[in-house]
Amino acid sequence: MPRFQTLRGMRDFLPEDLQKRRQIENTIRSLFKLYGYEEIATPIIESMQLLTAKAGDEIRHRMYSFPDLGKREVALRPEMTASVARLVVNHLRYSPKPLRLGYVSNCFRYDEPQQGRYREFWQGGFELFGSTRPEADAETLIIADQLMRILGFQNYEIKVSHIGILRAVLEQEGVDERTQNEALLFMDRGEYENLIALVQDYVSEECINVSRQLFDIRTDDVNKALDRGRKLLQNYEKALQSLENLGSIINILRDSEADIPLTINLGFGRGLEYYTGMVFEVFVPDLGIALNGGGRYDRLIEVFGGEPTPAVGCAPGIDRIVLAMEKKRLFKEETRGPKVLVIPLEDELQGQALRVAEKLRKKGFRTEVEVTGRGLKKALSFASNAKYTHAVIVGLRELSRDSATVRNLARNEQTEVKIDTIQDQLERD
Ligand code: HAM
Repeated sequence: MPRFQTLRGMRDFLPEDLQKRRQIENTIRSLFKLYGYEEIATPIIESMQLLTAKAGDEIRHRMYSFPDLGKREVALRPEMTASVARLVVNHLRYSPKPLRLGYVSNCFRYDEPQQGRYREFWQGGFELFGSTRPEADAETLIIADQLMRILGFQNYEIKVSHIGILRAVLEQEGVDERTQNEALLFMDRGEYENLIALVQDYVSEECINVSRQLFDIRTDDVNKALDRGRKLLQNYEKALQSLENLGSIINILRDSEADIPLTINLGFGRGLEYYTGMVFEVFVPDLGIALNGGGRYDRLIEVFGGEPTPAVGCAPGIDRIVLAMEKKRLFKEETRGPKVLVIPLEDELQGQALRVAEKLRKKGFRTEVEVTGRGLKKALSFASNAKYTHAVIVGLRELSRDSATVRNLARNEQTEVKIDTIQDQLERD
């Protein structure tokens, strides 16, 4: 047989990798609790129709899709928002709104593997259903910001824009929805000239000028950006409303004293087609890929047959956050207390060793039993190498006195201790 490897873009995780990932997942879950998001889970496989409904071409072409044995077209989920929207329509349609739902899930995209881009990756997620109001958008941005802060990032940027602006400009110029979607895809890739080439035969000269200047608005001076936008969009009423909506979100954030490192970048779009309003991505210097992305998607629930339900949310990418935290050395060494190896001195004492180990576990100590039958010397040397803090040696003579020998492996010191008081010794040590 060949020596099998993981498939390209897929990864195994060793304990130390997983420990890092758990730190991030735990932080995401602690934010679920603090902000009232209830955790849900959905199947990894969904119908192709659901996943492609509003995904956009970019993701549609990168899905792991296949017919199942019943000849249904299915796919591994490339993201979670479509599944969560389906779950809301199926189970929570009439429950009181707003509804706050969270998840930590693996997703699959047939991306070209490279640093921070994998074919199986993990997203946390926060989805808020039932509010059109800017304070809901502001909440999503605050959560994205808090996640970065709690994880220890000091230098990061949250880039915001509003999908409604370009859509409304193009709509007013009579550009149909499909072409708008294509245009937004070009914007997502930063291919502005392709965008202009796509629409220039249908739109006015003013539209081209306005669009070009909009794409250039990139600054952390949010007031300046909004003022420039207002001037540019004077003749595009609906687009102006979208810009004012972005302004309201930013005002609310300012009043909340959240102090979020925002930059307005009206030339940035998102690969997913369901967005209708504010969109954002989170970046750190030295890593040119987004750690988190999200925005408002007010029509997805309707597309899936539910009542009109506005929604806004985001999905932090756990794999990229790991990368960024490694670069910045933000992972904390876990202080995990004693780790004990119980070693029976003779074969007949195996049962006694298990008994002593169980006593220690009941007191909450990480305890393993020597199970390979090796002698004391080898067992102690293994224990030192494998970073156990203590060995508990179970011998006949000590047992007759209800005792065992507790050895501190760092100090190479040992004492005889009554079995019932080993835990006190470990705590003291
Ligand atoms: P997204 O921007 O496609 O948005 O993905 C969110 C995050 O997932 C990205 O910022 C990135 O960190 C991570 N990610 C995406 N693709 C990969 C990959 N191939 N390898 C590693 N990490 C990746 C969404 O998926 C939306 N559902 C977010 C959302 C939630 N919008 C509203 N609610």
